Amino acid sequence: MWGSIISEWASLLLRWLHVVAAIAWIGSSFYFIALDLSLKPKSDLPDGVQGEAWQVHGGGFYRIMKYLVAPTQMPDELTWFKWEAYTTWLSGFALMVVVYYLEADLFLVDKSILDLTPFQAGLFSFCSLALAWLLYEAACRTGLAQRELPFAIGGYLFLVALTYAFTHVLSGRGAFNQIAAIIGTIMVANVFAVIIPNQKKIVAALIAGRAPDPKLGKTSKERSVHNNYLTLPVVVLMISNHYPLLYATRFNWIIVAIILALGPVIRHFFNERHAGRKSPWWVWGVASAGALAILFLSAAGPREVKTGALSAPVTGANVEDIVMSRCSMCHATEPVWAGIVTAPKGILLDAPEHIHRNIRLIGRVAAWSTAMPPGNITEMTSEERAILAAYIEQAR
Ligand code: HEC
Repeated sequence: MWGSIISEWASLLLRWLHVVAAIAWIGSSFYFIALDLSLKPKSDLPDGVQGEAWQVHGGGFYRIMKYLVAPTQMPDELTWFKWEAYTTWLSGFALMVVVYYLEADLFLVDKSILDLTPFQAGLFSFCSLALAWLLYEAACRTGLAQRELPFAIGGYLFLVALTYAFTHVLSGRGAFNQIAAIIGTIMVANVFAVIIPNQKKIVAALIAGRAPDPKLGKTSKERSVHNNYLTLPVVVLMISNHYPLLYATRFNWIIVAIILALGPVIRHFFNERHAGRKSPWWVWGVASAGALAILFLSAAGPREVKTGALSAPVTGANVEDIVMSRCSMCHATEPVWAGIVTAPKGILLDAPEHIHRNIRLIGRVAAWSTAMPPGNITEMTSEERAILAAYIEQAR
């Protein structure tokens, strides 16, 4: 019992840290992107300054200047922005271990997709994470990333192919988290392995009185553009685990493909706007079309739908039987499932009145999607899901 309680609180603390660190990281990176885009060249600026910007915040005015690549002398004090990113990854990885690796049987494996042991699934997740990052890094280092458009298209197809593969190996929820973790890892690694080391080399050159290599700044810029476009998709994928209709329906991988395309498109709107160029309003047309497509795709139901007429009209008693036999071992005042100490999310499904009160929730997680039972651990059949769906349809 203590194991379950400790892991529950560890998950809360880590999630808290993860979200706060990510807010700080994304907040500062959005801020710097907008700042960069708004810098204006002026005639009276010191040597080496590319441009300046005026801002007002918190009761005062700020005059900010950007030196490119660096000032001629090291300033006495220099603020670095790196722990926001590192903390986001460290807390995120720890959270992934607590939720997805230690409870792989519930959240990573779905035996109706592929019959893996929790250990195999964890190993697969970890290795594919490392491998995907290495491939990205190799592609950048061999100079492929310099050709922006082909690299963007190739990177997009790479991520979609990975998603397709993950949704055929892991549970839908595990697959969504996996692709999000890969994108997040690539982003943090860009900071850790490229942007910060390059910045350190520039600082070292300044201290030694040498002119820093401008190539260092250029490579960093390339990686930070990647991060900029990956920010919106990674956030929505990270929170997608709260939306069964996204991750546990038949076309879940196509939904991810749309999200991966929409995020950068929406980002483009703000980049253009902050640069003072004409706002590309078409972006919102594309975004709405994508959102609508996701809505319809998510309505397609579970991967294996039982079509055709059910043998008999569905009754409330059928539904109660199904829920009692597939759900109530966990969703009860005193759950009998090992490792579950209280009804998950406070949802009780152990008596007819509880079942009927929660019928809409049941529909969302077990009839129109396969989110529950987690990892289909109690082996609910698609026939049973069809019965639940038919009952809810009748009851309306
Ligand atoms: C092995 C235990 C187990 C079984 C069996 C199980 N659940 Fe759950 N259920 C959970 C856990 C754990 C969570 C919390 C998931 C999370 O942390 O996101 C949950 C969450 C839920 C939620 C809340 C979802 C949300 O978004 O907050 C609903 C609704 C639900 N289950 C319904 C069902 C139904 C219906 C069944 C049967 C078809 C079922 N569960 C079977 C363990 C179980």
